Amino acid sequence: MKALALRNFAPAAALAVALGAFGWAGAANAQQEIKIGYALAPTSHYGVAADKWQEVVEAKSDGRYKFRHFPSSGLGGEREVIEGLQLGTIEATIVSSGTLSNFVPETGIFDIPFLFRDLTHARKVLDGEVGQSILAKFDDVGLVALAWGEQGFRHITNNRNEIDKPEDVAGLKLRTMENPIHITAFETLGAAPTPMAWPEVISALQQGTIDGQENPLSVITSAKLSEVQKYLTLSGHVYSPAMLLVSKQLWEGMSPEDQTIFKDAATEAVAAMRAYVDNVETSGVEQLKKEGMNVSEMTAEQKAAFQKALAPAYEKYYGQYDKATIDKIIATE
Ligand code: PAF
Repeated sequence: MKALALRNFAPAAALAVALGAFGWAGAANAQQEIKIGYALAPTSHYGVAADKWQEVVEAKSDGRYKFRHFPSSGLGGEREVIEGLQLGTIEATIVSSGTLSNFVPETGIFDIPFLFRDLTHARKVLDGEVGQSILAKFDDVGLVALAWGEQGFRHITNNRNEIDKPEDVAGLKLRTMENPIHITAFETLGAAPTPMAWPEVISALQQGTIDGQENPLSVITSAKLSEVQKYLTLSGHVYSPAMLLVSKQLWEGMSPEDQTIFKDAATEAVAAMRAYVDNVETSGVEQLKKEGMNVSEMTAEQKAAFQKALAPAYEKYYGQYDKATIDKIIATE
């Protein structure tokens, strides 16, 4: 049985070695499938970005690459998909920063609450030296990070009460991403943070095992959270970046010209994603009110009270991340 398996394996292995030696030049005429997984619907900011990525790559490569989409967590939660890229079973993804700091701890710096003033500030930092140097670190963990995308600023939704002051989140069973920075923040505020992979969130809200969750308007609208959540507090407590990644196997098997096609296409995908976010930031609140959500917007004073309550968390972050880099981010105009 063993001998048979080995005999069957030999020709395949020889072919693989031959193809490897032949390199990307030999594969130039073949069509390669790009499985792209993401957590949200095709009509979301992720779907829009994935469509643009596909459109540009397929056009510029004369159809040598063919995208196959797996939206709505069709390939599993974000952590599983990133691990799939590391294994080479998935070629591409667009993910939130949810689990990224478990792969490259430095990404967590962008998850610090109230770090960015607005979208323009965040985009400037991500596109600048600090953001780009963090993208490069993904190489060390067997991944190729091509660009920072975006979701917007995160806001709190829940079914228990309106949130105006830190005391209002006391004991609130709030789903967070599996993100240590966010978990620390909500623990410090006295909430009961419940880290959970996104595919489980809607049913947990329906069943009442959690009271709420936090996400940007792009997600709250596209995932139809108004159907399962009553209160929306525009807290904007943290900026939510996204990332466009490909597997190392895909990257290293490509010609330098094709690598440039994928990278340039990722930049165009980010532009489409940011345009979607700009749009939903202006139209999303009205839509959610119409869908029946009770919406309240935190004033600057109310946000300052949350920042004050987060003081012990900031102490921890300053121990974890380079203070000079944090100051550089804050000082970016
Ligand atoms: O909350 C999350 O886990 C993320 O923001 C989501 C919705 C999966 C989008 O990446």
